Amino acid sequence: MNNAERNLDLVVKEIADEMRQRTDRGEVATYIPELANVDAKAFGIAVIDAQGNVAAGGDSDTPFSIQSISKVFTLTIALGMIGDRLWRRVGREPSGNPFNSIVQLERERGVPRNPFINAGAIAVTDVIVSGHQPREALGDILRFMQFLTNDPSIAIDEDVAASEKRTGFLNTALANYMKSFGVIESPVDYTLGVYFHHCAIAMSCRQLAMAGRYLAHGGRNPSTGLSVVSAERARRINALMLTCGHYDGSGEFAYRVGLPGKSGVGGGILVVAPGKASIAVWSPGLDKSGNSHLGRIALETLTKRMGWSIF
Ligand code: DON
Repeated sequence: MNNAERNLDLVVKEIADEMRQRTDRGEVATYIPELANVDAKAFGIAVIDAQGNVAAGGDSDTPFSIQSISKVFTLTIALGMIGDRLWRRVGREPSGNPFNSIVQLERERGVPRNPFINAGAIAVTDVIVSGHQPREALGDILRFMQFLTNDPSIAIDEDVAASEKRTGFLNTALANYMKSFGVIESPVDYTLGVYFHHCAIAMSCRQLAMAGRYLAHGGRNPSTGLSVVSAERARRINALMLTCGHYDGSGEFAYRVGLPGKSGVGGGILVVAPGKASIAVWSPGLDKSGNSHLGRIALETLTKRMGWSIF
């Protein structure tokens, strides 16, 4: 280990210790009943640098429900399938509204503001489903995650998927609303079934940080040399993560952390430090925008101590 690696390792361990001692943890999501069963005190962090060194602390190997973080990967797949034609079905502007809001859809003719709010992600999932059986589309998404992490064990938590399906009335409304404008092409239950299941993929911080490496390094995994997307596409996905990745909390996240990030209601956040590292944190308690409370604080501490803000 050289000095820089030792320093990163130290900083990550310090943060895990500091977070373990904090008592302000936010509220665990309960609107998907199965998510409420998680240990509210859990905290994990994993950072993978450009050389492939992993610095990890806390519960970094415990799988959790990645939820909306999956939207980064479905966006990558859909762009690979239809390229810039995707932007006819979904916009690229921050919504300034909660992740499950329906209000803009009426005024904007069923075209969601961006691919990370629920409506936008459902429209992106519809692109992946198009003409396929839900099982095939889901298999493609899961195989993509297994390819990115080089880990065939990554799987869907079927209890979480079933729990969201039972209670996903708002997402069903969003999908039907978009369907009425022709933005959703497949049968609504096909698209929603795939959406609920890719949100229910379970991964650890270590696996998630591994999956995000292509975004930190110009579209390629620097350890294998394998190209996932072009450098331009990686830059653009990062731009969307910075502006839209935390919904109506995106401005605050950019202000405090200064890096592209995508959160999920399972309490995970995937963050990209371009050229430097891929980072994943997990703490199930959420703030009022549905983003991990301690996760954001841990990331703010990390970027300050490492000098990693892009600004
Ligand atoms: O559709 C939903 O509500 C969830 N499957 C995902 C939402 C989510 O993760 C929002 N992120 N913070």
